[in-house]
Amino acid sequence: MTIPLTDISNPPATDRTLLWQVTRNENPTPDAEREAILANPGFGQKFTDHMVDICWSEKGGWHRPRVSPYGPIELDPAAAVLHYAQEVFEGLKAYRHADGSIHTFRADQNAARLQRSARRLALPELPTEYFVDSIRRLVGVDGAWVPSAGETSLYLRPFMFAKEAFLGVRAAKKVAYYLIASPAGAYFAHGVQPVNIALAPNYSRAGKGGTGAAKTGGNYASSLLPQAEAYEKGCEQVLYLDGEYLEELGGMNIVLVRRDGSLITPESDSILEGITVKSILELAADRGLGIEQRPVTITEWRAGAASGEIVGAFACGTAAVLVPIGRLVADDFEIVHDGPEASELALSLREELTDIQYGRREDRHGWLTRLDAETPAA
Ligand code: PLP
Ligand code: COI
Repeated sequence: MTIPLTDISNPPATDRTLLWQVTRNENPTPDAEREAILANPGFGQKFTDHMVDICWSEKGGWHRPRVSPYGPIELDPAAAVLHYAQEVFEGLKAYRHADGSIHTFRADQNAARLQRSARRLALPELPTEYFVDSIRRLVGVDGAWVPSAGETSLYLRPFMFAKEAFLGVRAAKKVAYYLIASPAGAYFAHGVQPVNIALAPNYSRAGKGGTGAAKTGGNYASSLLPQAEAYEKGCEQVLYLDGEYLEELGGMNIVLVRRDGSLITPESDSILEGITVKSILELAADRGLGIEQRPVTITEWRAGAASGEIVGAFACGTAAVLVPIGRLVADDFEIVHDGPEASELALSLREELTDIQYGRREDRHGWLTRLDAETPAA
């Protein structure tokens, strides 16, 4: 059954009102099965009962927003995304608080980054209110999928791709935006135990003027082979360099920790601007810790680790939250951070961040958006 709805949840400007169609899944996952999934969600393996999509065309702009049963997407074999990878995506989470309410974290930042990524990939920019509304709509019907066990959440995956059937190489005139959701536990099976990461000097993730700062599938496709090689060396992630300069890991930003508690994170226009690292740095600055966002070389890290000036490092991102880095493995050297001081500060910042996300600590920066309160009945 299709029920047309006027958007009343977060009224946008009149010229931006979208008429939503909501089609309920008539065969939703049985409660007991859903509860079993939520008790042990893993990462990215199971999906909720519904999804959102919004169409875009050159002539009609954004139109026909829908909530429909989760299921396969029908695509023409000539759809441009399948050939030229014109695609962008996002990742954010919905958290359940102890009182049962559901909140998301800095969704406006994800909306803005999706717009920047879209611009780089010659895709249309989805207005922030449509982005946030799509999340409200999906959580409105699939709220029961937001888990409540410690450090679990509902991972939200918005994505947009070129669906026009055309083999000429130019920006597509028909595009689709989708949002799917997947209950999530820890990204790494070992939780917050330190990860080992590998240098892959023969591969680069991004080049000057390339797509490194965009969240686009191609960046991840090219990371799969280096990551598989890193696994063979006992490492779970690859640290990419630009020459001597640190960039980031395949799916996380990197931060170095100094002896005095100050933090250094690489700055470069080919790194994805992470919302987690930005938030961690803001929390550290609130504590009066020094923050440096600047170009940083592997030699500086190596020398700092040897002299005791750099006591630790950590990786952070939405999926992984924050994990200490225990070891960097290169072909001809290793950097090891195994002292207790290596992860102490990292784990305390992690705790502060997750306390805010899960409503255990005051949201003094106003980072949370409540999703369940104003959701219109579907
Ligand atoms: N860098 C890359 C390549 C990523 O895929 C991610 C994950 O989204 C991040 C950094 C961290 O970004 P965020 O903290 O916004 O999730
Ligand atoms: C995220 O952290 O949201 C990402 O997109 C990273 C990916 C490796 C899961």
